[in-house]
Amino acid sequence: MSNHCVKIAPSILSADFACLGQEVKAITNAGADWIHVDIMDGHFVQNLTIGPAVVKAMRPYSSVPFDVHLMIDPAQPFIQAFIDAGADQITTHVELPCVKETIALIKDLGKKAGLAISPKTAPEALFPYLDTIDLILVMTVEPGFGGQSFMNSQLEKIKILREKIQFLNLPIDLAVDGGITPETAQKAIKAGANVLVAGTAVFKNSCYTDNVAALRAAENPLAATKCRPAPAD
Ligand code: DX5
Ligand code: ZN
Repeated sequence: MSNHCVKIAPSILSADFACLGQEVKAITNAGADWIHVDIMDGHFVQNLTIGPAVVKAMRPYSSVPFDVHLMIDPAQPFIQAFIDAGADQITTHVELPCVKETIALIKDLGKKAGLAISPKTAPEALFPYLDTIDLILVMTVEPGFGGQSFMNSQLEKIKILREKIQFLNLPIDLAVDGGITPETAQKAIKAGANVLVAGTAVFKNSCYTDNVAALRAAENPLAATKCRPAPAD
């Protein structure tokens, strides 16, 4: 499946946190379609990151959508704060309670809603919610940390979800998150993903434009120019 352009969502988890504003600006200029923001609570996952105040501080540095991935339990009490801070789409985990209510809250507040699915969770867990969400985020590592290796075992899940979305003819983005490199991106796209979340692969060196273009080219060698010319630094 590659009948539409792949979107690249750099994860700022791998950015230099001492200058997040400049990092967000740099990846936007490098051609990011979305900015992926990982929120962790040290409880749902074994790591702590940032809250709404930091999202708000980053917001003026980019005009592309902020794609906020909540790895927090509970998520519901914080939805409004992340939207006020500038989130355009909010993804919560299907493993949490109150999934339906959380999606409804995000949609009622006028934003896009996503559901993330951890490696051990079966794809069918998402089926009851498909007609209410805008985005699926398939975790291709255990959530919590950047720099882990892509789990090939998740490719079948991506395939099943793409088939289901197509069968139901739903306008849902299918994103992958974790261990994405130009090589693993190719496998994920072949399986049906159309959004690539990547931390290490984008921030591994200072050549953000090249790194984003390399991911985009995973779709096909002409994709970088066909879909969206990479702006100059
Ligand atoms: C992990 C996060 C990812 C992480 C990906 O829980 O959800 O977004 O930043 O990092 P890489 O691309 O380094 O695997
Ligand atoms: Zn993430």
